[in-house]
Amino acid sequence: MFIKKLGLSLLLAVAFLSCEPEAFSPEDTTPFALKLPEGFPAPAIPEDNALTEARVALGKRLFYDPVLSSDSSISCQSCHRQELAFADDRPISPGVQGRLGFRNSPTLANVAYLSRINKDGGVTKLDLQAIVPIEDHAEMDFSILLAAERLNAMPTYEAAFAKAYGEHASPFTITRALGSFMRTMISGHSRYDIAQQGGAPLSAAEARGEMLFFSSRTQCSTCHSGFNFTQNQFLNNGLYLEYEDGGRHRVTLQEEDMGKFRVPTLRNISVTAPYMHDGSLADLRAVVQHYNQGGKGHANQDPRVKPLGLSEQEQSDLIAFLQTLTDTAFLTDEQFR
Ligand code: HEC
Ligand code: HEC
Repeated sequence: MFIKKLGLSLLLAVAFLSCEPEAFSPEDTTPFALKLPEGFPAPAIPEDNALTEARVALGKRLFYDPVLSSDSSISCQSCHRQELAFADDRPISPGVQGRLGFRNSPTLANVAYLSRINKDGGVTKLDLQAIVPIEDHAEMDFSILLAAERLNAMPTYEAAFAKAYGEHASPFTITRALGSFMRTMISGHSRYDIAQQGGAPLSAAEARGEMLFFSSRTQCSTCHSGFNFTQNQFLNNGLYLEYEDGGRHRVTLQEEDMGKFRVPTLRNISVTAPYMHDGSLADLRAVVQHYNQGGKGHANQDPRVKPLGLSEQEQSDLIAFLQTLTDTAFLTDEQFR
């Protein structure tokens, strides 16, 4: 599933290439103009993968094409669906032949801002991430080299790669094109944002929930903070006393990282159920109950997770606030289809 199972030489080759500045002569260099919501910084775009129209278009085509899986049955969108903010509604999404991995498919909204990819930060660049699902036995179960061969035998893809990169399909260009498309998945036009910017105000219940979310009593906003409701820290929110999936520990092997996962964004949270790294909490009520009870008390549990004593009304208000974070335009935007 993770890096250690991938061909080391392949990874090294891709990582090596990634240090080079732009070395290609693409046929079409028309820049892609990212539209950023108010308050969003410009995401860092790697030097070797300037964002262009042709790259985004190619990445989009690859994202929806099952050609990247061994039996041509699974595409990226099988587990990352636009109407669900590019997440999935199943706790664990089946890959090739119905095989199951062990983590819940996350939203891809605002992945352009991640400095470490995956819930345990095991991948350091968005432009390398696509190798993981393509090669994972429980996901697309293919080899990126064979995928490149397959694509190079398809004339319309050959033309699209030439246009975008002036190159054939290769591990480098396939992953970069997918990275380019995913960088355009920026979401920041929720009802909460509109209210913040002086538009239609939140309802009384939603506004009470907002107060609770940003209160020192709940501390929600100290972990889920900033324009994307996360600072991308790895923390233990007390979900279990014993973790089957050690999260960050799988990468660092440090006991202090046991049960730590990247704090997820809360944008579009009402459409990305079920929740947590393993999809074990079915709905937002279960999430709020988890925090209200104060966590299971793992040694690494962050002290901010503690019994909150929220009344039924307060829990409902908090949920009402979380539901205002949905950006419905993002879920239906034709640009992503
Ligand atoms: C079988 C389901 C499945 C398929 C197919 C799949 N993914 Fe994922 N994706 C996941 C899961 C599960 C995770 C969480 C992995 C983790 O955190 O270790 C994930 C994580 C990611 C992330 C990291 C997001 C974050 O918040 O760190 C990106 C980016 C991503 N996938 C892109 C893709 C792309 C591109 C493809 C197609 C090449 C793809 N995925 C195919 C299930 C899938
Ligand atoms: C100590 C930091 C911390 C605090 C405080 C905190 N969270 Fe979290 N939150 C996390 C982490 C870490 C995860 C991911 C855990 C996992 O994947 O298993 C998470 C996950 C979530 C999720 C599920 C996201 C998803 O995509 O699955 C929701 C919803 C959520 N928190 C809401 C809240 C609310 C509401 C509060 C306040 C009552 C709160 N959080 C307080 C760290 C925190």
